[in-house]
Amino acid sequence: MNTLVRSVVLISGAFIAVPAKAQAPSTVFLSCTLAQAKKIKQGFDIAPVPLDLAAKNRKLVGLGSYIVNAQGGCNDCHTNPPYAPGGDPFKGEPEQINVEGYLAGGQAFGPFISRNLTPCNDGEPEWTFAEFLQMLRTGVDLEDDEHPPGNTPLLQVMPWPVYGKMSTCDLRAVYEYLRAIPSRQCEESPH
Ligand code: HEC
Repeated sequence: MNTLVRSVVLISGAFIAVPAKAQAPSTVFLSCTLAQAKKIKQGFDIAPVPLDLAAKNRKLVGLGSYIVNAQGGCNDCHTNPPYAPGGDPFKGEPEQINVEGYLAGGQAFGPFISRNLTPCNDGEPEWTFAEFLQMLRTGVDLEDDEHPPGNTPLLQVMPWPVYGKMSTCDLRAVYEYLRAIPSRQCEESPH
């Protein structure tokens, strides 16, 4: 660890015990930056699939992985089934995410079926970032025509009223992560 990094760590550590009110804004910002760096690292540690970082913003991909895999629970609904055989934590088994079907959709919630979030074969998601933002912020179903019969103009089941409250930066991180995961355009996918 170089001296600068060490003193930054020591300084930020020293402030942990100090009440938030007493912290100078710059120190809070420093702690936040360090916390963000930890999230990015953790994001890479917990990503269950290999990530393609070519032409991607690495920090955003790491943060996106943190949001998707440690906070958003996208896997619970968008992977069918979410866990590999013998890897279901709800059965007390050591967790093993279903890598083959990771975020490829296909789980039914009544008439609504979760959709494939993985990139197309050209390595890009089906939606532009502007479209993704619109879906997550307003719930509008931009692929309404393609998903009969349960379809409604607004996405159902999907917690967009919650996710839509994320900052644009965080949503961009989620989008960047979804660009980096393996494409799963399998035949039975709902796309
Ligand atoms: C509680 C289950 C659930 C969770 C958790 C969930 N989704 Fe969904 N999502 C759905 C369902 C179901 C649909 C399809 C809704 C419909 O058909 O009306 C959907 C649709 C979508 C769509 C529209 C895709 C398209 O091509 O039209 C996007 C984008 C999406 N989800 C992203 C996410 C992301 C990102 C996360 C995690 C941050 C997430 N979802 C978590 C259930 C969920």
